[in-house]
Amino acid sequence: MAAPIRRGEPVPLFSDRVLATLVAPDDGSALALEPGALRSVSGRRYPHVEGVPSLLRGEADALRERVRAFYEENPFPSYEGLEEFGELVNKGQRNPFTRDLLAAIGYNRLILEVGCGTGQLTHFLQLNNNHVLGVDMTLNSLKLALEHKLRNRLARSSFAQMDVFDLALRDDAFDVVISHGVLHHTRDARQAFSCIVRKVKPGGIVMVGLYSSYARILTWLRSKLLWLTGNRIDYVVRNQIRDARKAQVWIRDQYENPHETWHSIGEVLGWFEENGVEYLNCFPRILGSSGELTADLFGASDPGSRYQRVVTQLSWLGTIGREGSLFDVIGRRRA
Ligand SMILES: C[S@@+](CC[C@H](N)C(=O)[O-])C[C@H]1O[C@@H](n2cnc3c(N)ncnc32)[C@H](O)[C@@H]1O
Repeated sequence: MAAPIRRGEPVPLFSDRVLATLVAPDDGSALALEPGALRSVSGRRYPHVEGVPSLLRGEADALRERVRAFYEENPFPSYEGLEEFGELVNKGQRNPFTRDLLAAIGYNRLILEVGCGTGQLTHFLQLNNNHVLGVDMTLNSLKLALEHKLRNRLARSSFAQMDVFDLALRDDAFDVVISHGVLHHTRDARQAFSCIVRKVKPGGIVMVGLYSSYARILTWLRSKLLWLTGNRIDYVVRNQIRDARKAQVWIRDQYENPHETWHSIGEVLGWFEENGVEYLNCFPRILGSSGELTADLFGASDPGSRYQRVVTQLSWLGTIGREGSLFDVIGRRRA
């Protein structure tokens, strides 16, 4: 068992459980932490970049760099002023999705969040003695995530710079892998999904959140009216964000993103089949109430018929269509 961290001692960048999942991008060997870098057992040093542990490989396509430049300028979702951990936990517990997600994950789990942005969900999920690694390619987002970790002395949330297509992580390592609002900003969401599934233990959970090809039509329509109405056309800006900078980041992410693709439940069910993942649930639900979840988020549910899924996704025009138009599909990797 890890020794407790005493008051005044610096909080380590990685908990032991998370460090054991990292591998050198060049030869897959284990990594150890030393001042200012990660070092592989084969002797190669991977220096932190601006204080952030970095295992991002050099080979980058033009699209990735365009998306990265965008998020470097607009780290997402950003913090509302000096948002402390207590406030972040209160928000997470008030939000039915994050509250039910934490409850479904349970205790003492090892979790990977791919595309963690500024790290709020990673921090929230380290409650219940969970150990969470958040990875993202955007340095300015990871800097904010790390700053929050160090200021609030959060020992079980860790961060590293990585590309979803080149995750420097052991296969079959995590109890839960989550990627929320990320894969649709990559060159190939389907391929990116197969990269993240490999990191889940057989029998573990994978959850992927994507833009809905139905609900996102409303965002597209709003983007055409934005010049006329200003930011108040956006429901989230009107009702959920208090901080002006955070509101601007949200508007840019939603209406000026350099690259996004739209997806359907049926498409994700196809990805599940291809990658040996059994469907469990969807948020919002496919059948029954689309509002607050009452059942276990990771409990098995009926995916409905093709016709029922079309009707449900059309109904999302009136629900998630006013917010980010994201739906999350949850599955279990077959053992
Ligand atoms: C809309 S933000 C979502 C952040 C967070 N998951 C959330 O829901 O608030 C998309 C994130 O995906 C990251 N991202 C996009 N493409 C990526 C890639 N190829 N590898 C790693 N991260 C990527 C971006 O840097 C950005 O932080």
